[in-house]
Amino acid sequence: METAVVENPATSKDTRWKLLTATMRRHGNRPHALIESLHTAQEAFGYIDDVAMKYVAESLRVPLSKVYGVATFYHYFTLKPQGKHTCVVCTGTACYIKGAGQLLQAMEEKYGVSAGETTEDGELSVLTARCFGCCGLAPAAVIDGAVAGKLTVAETLERLDKVIGK
Ligand code: FES
Repeated sequence: METAVVENPATSKDTRWKLLTATMRRHGNRPHALIESLHTAQEAFGYIDDVAMKYVAESLRVPLSKVYGVATFYHYFTLKPQGKHTCVVCTGTACYIKGAGQLLQAMEEKYGVSAGETTEDGELSVLTARCFGCCGLAPAAVIDGAVAGKLTVAETLERLDKVIGK
């Protein structure tokens, strides 16, 4: 999965990129916003991939190597997971109230994988994010880069089965 298949994160309509862009702008796109920007990326996407790192580096005019260094140094940050497919469940307030916990529990029961883990066969990585910025769609998850909203447990498992070919 790619975090988001985007040609240009700066003009993307994806609310996750908008959250990141807003954080960087709030700091005048200055280098000192690096850690906070990575926090926002982590919270919006559930992990930080190359596309996000490159975007942050260019926007803040910080060398990519430094962005990578910071992202790998702090345990708080998660780099792109190893699974062939990725499901990021939003556990922000709105999504949590609407049942994000049940979605995670159902995945754990069915695939034996909890948040932050990848299935033994390497097919699926499950992660959590703090808010995708589209709370009206709660509970929401991003499966292989596509946002899915108002999810039920059955629908989530059905989508995942399809994606991982079960
Ligand atoms: S709380 Fe889930 S998208 Fe905002």
